[in-house]
Amino acid sequence: MNKLIRRILLGLLAVLVIIQLIPVDRSVPENMDGRQDFITMMNPPAEIATLLTDACYDCHSYKTKYPWYSKVAPVKWWIQDHINEGREHLNFSVWGSYEAKKADHKLEECVEEVEENKMPLDSYINMHPEADLTTEQRAQMTAWFDGLRRKG
Ligand code: HEC
Repeated sequence: MNKLIRRILLGLLAVLVIIQLIPVDRSVPENMDGRQDFITMMNPPAEIATLLTDACYDCHSYKTKYPWYSKVAPVKWWIQDHINEGREHLNFSVWGSYEAKKADHKLEECVEEVEENKMPLDSYINMHPEADLTTEQRAQMTAWFDGLRRKG
């Protein structure tokens, strides 16, 4: 019995070691035009810029900072999935390429997602205490997003 458990554990360990060899694609486009970046374009107050960088940019830009555990399989696939999906929906690094209508709609979504506590994702907040926005920070952020919208 003991022997069996040892074998199973060793087998699992071997699988964990082997899956580390499977790469994950973290490439971002080269020669990005920095002028298209949301923060660069909008020049928000420093606190807002910090909130955006700390709570949104890891998934919604090409400026992702990868913590050590994001390099370990199987977690790394799950994390990269979130990042790819996040960028697909909203990528602050290419903000300048969005048409006015699309940009306005994204701002509207930003207000909603932050207001309704849907963003940042809970799983992200668990690992990033700085992204655990207070009610006040959420209000600050949504007011700022809202102020950027084309009125009328
Ligand atoms: C851990 C990664 C992650 C973080 C951090 C994160 N998001 Fe997201 N976001 C996603 C993913 C994945 C989706 C798409 C799936 C969904 O809506 O749940 C998404 C969707 C969105 C959408 C919907 C876009 C659309 O048009 O469909 C908005 C708006 C958004 N996020 C805003 C934000 C803002 C603002 C922040 C920071 C306060 C933030 N997100 C932080 C991963 C993230």
